[in-house]
Amino acid sequence: MTEKAKKIRISTLGRMKREGRKITAVTAYDAITGAWADQAGIDLVLVGDSLGPTALGLADTIGVRLEQMVHHGAAVARAAHSALRVGDMPFMTYKASPEQALTNSARLIQEGGMEAVKLEGGSEMAPTVERLVRAGIPVLGHVGILPQSYHQQGGFHVQGRDEATAGQLRRDAKALRDAGAFAIVLECIPSALAAGISGDLAIPTIGIGAGPDCDGQILVIADLLGMIDDKPFRFVKPYAQLHDHARKALEGYVADVRNGSFPGQEQTYGAG
Ligand code: KIV
Repeated sequence: MTEKAKKIRISTLGRMKREGRKITAVTAYDAITGAWADQAGIDLVLVGDSLGPTALGLADTIGVRLEQMVHHGAAVARAAHSALRVGDMPFMTYKASPEQALTNSARLIQEGGMEAVKLEGGSEMAPTVERLVRAGIPVLGHVGILPQSYHQQGGFHVQGRDEATAGQLRRDAKALRDAGAFAIVLECIPSALAAGISGDLAIPTIGIGAGPDCDGQILVIADLLGMIDDKPFRFVKPYAQLHDHARKALEGYVADVRNGSFPGQEQTYGAG
């Protein structure tokens, strides 16, 4: 983008849904990925707790700490100015009570430079969402696969495939809307169910593995850019293979240093 992009606010996302314009979202974890997302015109940047398995090398999101989210959030905030910045509340920093959620989300906003927070869970989180929204903290809901409930959900499985669990997901989405969430992430649910929830709600849905009828889409940036040498989940479309490019570039550098062709004349300073 050449012109200065317009600031995206939560009201922009609601307007985009009403006008039938798709919302674009991606995760970012540092100033480089935050700047890339912003410069590409992404609407919403999520400093996700996928920080753990991507940037921090953890096994899952459960080990991510609030301090780490604050630290990485602040780096993204220094680089991403146009996109709406949303920070994930990490495992067990918001489920003990609405007051715990309030204290900890205030840190993501004040110290981490976030403009809204995301938390996982359905109807049971409604009182917490209500408390945060009343205090002036916008909340992005998240239902379907809940990576922080990996052990409770028994692994990563598409959610809402039978009528009982689909009905629960519909009720969860409505409870989050009624509590004041400005949008809801739908993670790995059947596309027909996601389409139904998106049609039922006036607030936007943002899908990941939830089909094309959500109001927007989000992907983990490491998956989108092919940064990691892993087989991606079915719902991922890698738009680049940065892992391959990086390895080849580094191998070229290693070879050049070893054979003496780097640094060459062009990279070398003369005396005067
Ligand atoms: O942490 C994350 O990256 C997320 C997305 C998968 C929505 O929560």
